[in-house]
Amino acid sequence: MAYNRCMSHNRPFTLNDLREARIHGKPLAMLTCYDYTTARHLDETGVPMLLVGDSASSVILGHPSTLPVSLDFMIELTSAVRRGAKRSLVMADMPFGSYQESDQQGIRNVLRMVKETNCDCVKIEAGVFSVSLIERLSDAGVAVVAHLGLRPQTVGLMGGYKYQGRTAKQADQIVRLSQTMVRAGASALLLEAVPPPVSQKVVQVTDVPVIGCGAGPACHAHVVVLQDLLGLTPHPPRFVPVLEKGSLQDMVRRFVDLVESGAYPDSSQTYEMPPEEQDKFKRNVQTI
Ligand code: KIV
Repeated sequence: MAYNRCMSHNRPFTLNDLREARIHGKPLAMLTCYDYTTARHLDETGVPMLLVGDSASSVILGHPSTLPVSLDFMIELTSAVRRGAKRSLVMADMPFGSYQESDQQGIRNVLRMVKETNCDCVKIEAGVFSVSLIERLSDAGVAVVAHLGLRPQTVGLMGGYKYQGRTAKQADQIVRLSQTMVRAGASALLLEAVPPPVSQKVVQVTDVPVIGCGAGPACHAHVVVLQDLLGLTPHPPRFVPVLEKGSLQDMVRRFVDLVESGAYPDSSQTYEMPPEEQDKFKRNVQTI
């Protein structure tokens, strides 16, 4: 496995290893992480990639959404995780309000995140408005991950957290947006809460690694919120595997094994697209 190779050569896991996972069809595990000590344990247990998600807003601070957290807060957490993760790749999440105002604001804040935390890549919840920002950042040499599908920072507009790509029209929009993001220079995509036909098509029409978060088995890596995996949250999403209780290391190792063996996600851990919408989607995307 790619990460075992990194451990035995005592070298960090990089974006190139993630790209290799896509090429060789070997799925990788990713977990959210928000602090130094946990990062150290996840790194030593063999988790190749850590996401310092703005889900910290809910799981660390107890807010009902991801909207309140500040850039300073996310920088502090990301630096702590970086100090703990010697080999795992660290992905920093840009919080709501830190990049939506203008490209200038986004560039300034992303560069600050990169310089102050030494993260490996940054994630933004992307839409059509993000194209020029992604172009500028990738030109500047920053690895940007475009988060598509369910974008929790748009909870106000969505009127709640609903899985995306349920209809052929929505699915078609996500697939086209994924191509737009890759053309703009996104280094990877993160697809949250979409049915398997959507991720399958995204994988087919793009050439960068696709990380799924409740997005079905076609993705090249799978991420869940650590506290959901450990059974510490009251209502984890349906795609989070239910594991027998054990030590942090045991439960995390089990998740890594499930992902790497291809046993995760199974059909009970995915979202559905009604058959008539699937037929329509298949007809529509023939032209993509
Ligand atoms: O903030 C987060 O944890 C995320 C994942 C749910 C993908 O963005």
